Amino acid sequence: MQLSTKHLLGIKNLTTEDISLILSTSQQFKEVLQRPVKKVPSLREVTVVNLFYENSTRTRISFELAEKRLSADIINFTAAASSAAKGETLLDTVNNILSMKVDLVVMRHSASGAPHFLAEHIPAAIVNAGDGINEHPTQALLDAFSIQEKTGSLAGRKVALIGDIMHSRVAQSNIYLLKKMGASVMVCGPPTLIPKHISQALGVDVSYNLRETLEWCDVANVLRIQLERQNQVLFSSLREYNLAYGIGKELLDSLHKEVVIMHPGPINRGVELDSDVADSKQSIILQQVENGVAVRMAVLYLLSGRSVAN
Ligand code: CP
Repeated sequence: MQLSTKHLLGIKNLTTEDISLILSTSQQFKEVLQRPVKKVPSLREVTVVNLFYENSTRTRISFELAEKRLSADIINFTAAASSAAKGETLLDTVNNILSMKVDLVVMRHSASGAPHFLAEHIPAAIVNAGDGINEHPTQALLDAFSIQEKTGSLAGRKVALIGDIMHSRVAQSNIYLLKKMGASVMVCGPPTLIPKHISQALGVDVSYNLRETLEWCDVANVLRIQLERQNQVLFSSLREYNLAYGIGKELLDSLHKEVVIMHPGPINRGVELDSDVADSKQSIILQQVENGVAVRMAVLYLLSGRSVAN
């Protein structure tokens, strides 16, 4: 089976068959990663460039590890340490790299639409590793894989996205994916951090009440306040945010049910999540990170167009 798309630019344009194929292929790679020898030759002779124009810890390391496990050749590019810092354009940078015969480009950029722009101008397949406030498709896929692994299915699951929905590419990709796969989604946060027409536009429920949201959901995916993407004050202080929307152990214990806690990272401890929740048994935050490698192996493998025999 093959994906319906040459690039992974977002979840919005994936079919449910694409998503199911990526998730089932991820399961196969997760099994590979449990073996003593974790490396497979699937992307031998394939060259991948990791083009990071914005900071990253998890996504960058996860892609690099996934590429190494697949035996790909890798080039790592960091904008701050490159001629981009001298004013070279994105297209010139990429065309120079491509002239060295690169097959796949993994790209993170602070500008929404940057990977879509590249996809129109270069022949290599592109994986969006997060573009501005638009999408972060591999994060949504690894979140979905982790929910499925923990709870058994996506269909019928009640998932809450809590926090800064307005500036979150993770929220947008998660909503597209969860709705396509039959889950119910509620977004929760201060009114200033939730887009006005999100309910009609994306088919989600909206709540401004954290307790009500936690009482409703099976899974709470907690998001960071994206201070670097806010150009005005949207809430009074981090302390006040924590009082209204921070999740602590006392609150979780008072629900008398086990809500699964997720977070894409990086966590602002003591703001959206207290440490006794982030590090608790209810949290699957580190499992998300672990699953990210298998999911990115699946995405790279499927986009490379290699057959199973390779
Ligand atoms: N979840 C995520 O994208 O984390 P990084 O910014 O560290 O890659």
